[in-house]
Amino acid sequence: MDLFQKVAQLKKEKNAVILAHYYQDPDIQDVADFIGDSLELARAAQRSTADIILFAGVHFMAEGAKILNPSRKVILPDLRAGCSLSDSCPPERLAEFKKNNPDHFVISYINCSAAVKALSDVICTSSNALKIVERAPKDRPILFAPDRNLGRWVTEKTGRAMTLWPGSCIVHETFSERKMIDLKLKHPDAKIIAHPECEENILKISDFIGSTSQLLKFVSESPNQTFIVATEAGILHQMQKKASQKTLVPAPPNQNCACNECPFMKLNTLEKLVQALETESPEIFVPEAIRKAAQKSLALMLEWSA
Ligand code: 13P
Ligand code: SF4
Repeated sequence: MDLFQKVAQLKKEKNAVILAHYYQDPDIQDVADFIGDSLELARAAQRSTADIILFAGVHFMAEGAKILNPSRKVILPDLRAGCSLSDSCPPERLAEFKKNNPDHFVISYINCSAAVKALSDVICTSSNALKIVERAPKDRPILFAPDRNLGRWVTEKTGRAMTLWPGSCIVHETFSERKMIDLKLKHPDAKIIAHPECEENILKISDFIGSTSQLLKFVSESPNQTFIVATEAGILHQMQKKASQKTLVPAPPNQNCACNECPFMKLNTLEKLVQALETESPEIFVPEAIRKAAQKSLALMLEWSA
């Protein structure tokens, strides 16, 4: 039996569901029951009735599933699948900021730990950040954590001044503006599309900015033929599937490396998925006090972005 059949058999046997992010390996995307951006995955986790949710993504996403659906067993194939953005905001430092700035309304990007979510007033994702910031109380200063690039872009779009936490994504800060301009000269009709976690200079030269799902929708629906794609390379798999006749050019990183692939996302493999389903581990646990507080900020996000 090959690995694909083994996953299918175990899913059935264990009444498990596989939720996968677009940055996962193509093989993993192909065995998933649901693929989405962070917001769609949070919603899918919340409504799941499966006994086991296997999260093919990174740690903060699996924690999010557990926070929203605590009666399910949530497993992550590799517990080391972290996130540089999440790591840039330790909860103790956020607690200290809040102590020194008690007037601030804290909006945290979903790429953060459960403990940081628990300290936040509301959560946002790249697909609803504009909406969430617009709903924030007008009479309070805002702290936006932990992605300074997304925060800067949201400020520009909404006109709402915010204190930005100095965090960033190692993958989205890798793209070379000079190489992208060279590519644009080679493909003058191409549209440059980027994730808002990219740096300001990349966003400035982009024709469309959005979450992974929004980028995918843009490519499928646009009358244009060629796209230079500035986000993690895993998204190209669904883009190619949904728009097979279009030309997709991955935005080049600064170095000649595979830095446009998230090393954390790529820790998950089909072999590890099989093992995780067989052993129903590694399991994600969130202490109840943290879970309850984090659920509040996540629930407010879901309410504001409904
Ligand atoms: P979205 O899929 O919500 O756009 O998030 C991208 C990301 O970096 C996930 O880690
Ligand atoms: Fe985190 Fe960046 Fe990887 Fe997304 S792509 S999981 S933000 S390190």
